[in-house]
Amino acid sequence: MSSIIKVSSPSNIALIKYMGKKNHELNVPSNSSLSWTIDHLRTYVEVKALSNKETDRWAPLESQQDISLSESSVARYLNFWKKLKSKLGVEGNFLVSSGNNFPFGCGLASSASSFSALTLAAHELSCKQGQKPLNEHQLALLSAQGSGSSCRSLLEGWVKWSEQGVQQVSFPFDNLIHKVIVVESGEKKISSSQAHKMISSSLLNVQRQARANQRLEDLCQVLQKGDWKRAYEICWSEFWDMHALFETSEPSFGYMTALTMKALNSLRLFWQNNGDGPLITMDAGPNVHMLFREDQNKLCDDILANCLEGFSVL
Ligand code: PMV
Repeated sequence: MSSIIKVSSPSNIALIKYMGKKNHELNVPSNSSLSWTIDHLRTYVEVKALSNKETDRWAPLESQQDISLSESSVARYLNFWKKLKSKLGVEGNFLVSSGNNFPFGCGLASSASSFSALTLAAHELSCKQGQKPLNEHQLALLSAQGSGSSCRSLLEGWVKWSEQGVQQVSFPFDNLIHKVIVVESGEKKISSSQAHKMISSSLLNVQRQARANQRLEDLCQVLQKGDWKRAYEICWSEFWDMHALFETSEPSFGYMTALTMKALNSLRLFWQNNGDGPLITMDAGPNVHMLFREDQNKLCDDILANCLEGFSVL
């Protein structure tokens, strides 16, 4: 059985978070979001044709790191594969293999890279079968129907997802260095899909859309002006805002651990002592993401060696 399609797609980390949906079926976000595409953390997908008697199935991609998806995750992935096939006019049944070049189960958001890679694979297959190609913006919106955050992975660098669609934006900060402090591994108890629903019970959610959109406007403005410190402050309040939504939901839930707090406090102290540091953010998980400017190589080494000793950083 020959491999007919091979694609890969990167992950991304949001600085202004997509949290809450206007439509849960189609993943229509309650607010706009802004992310940085993490080029080196990727999902690889390979698709092989099966006979007509067989049905679509999933397998781990052997060339990549060990992955074991739960039954419900496989079902979600294959359901979206079927939806993509039907939307893109793909005929036939396939073995879809996927894997990440980063460790599975380390709590890193991989739905962005895995769903965008799946969309790319289905699109390439449809073009091979003679269908009209979509542009990257149309592809991004299609991918959003599988996992909202995956739409931002289809573009490079800074990416904004708003009512106007998915667009690349430019700021005077390029080639950022991404590092994540892996505080805890293992699948999280509350998935982000569940979190999107549960936060509607929080009183803080009433004004969330306005706060997120305001922060997006402010962040774009300060990044444009080159004000890195102010950007750090906005990103800091934004991830706390999202985690406060989790904690004030009914029932409440949360992802931060004692080690998360330790890492956050060390990083804040570093900023206070040095007047400089990385942008800091967190996803719906316990791990802490850092984005360094390209001229902060030395500062990054300093933080890893002196401020985060004992932590596992990827
Ligand atoms: O794409 P989803 O449904 O897994 O949502 C992910 C949402 C966050 O990662 C928590 C934030 C974001 O904007 O990526």
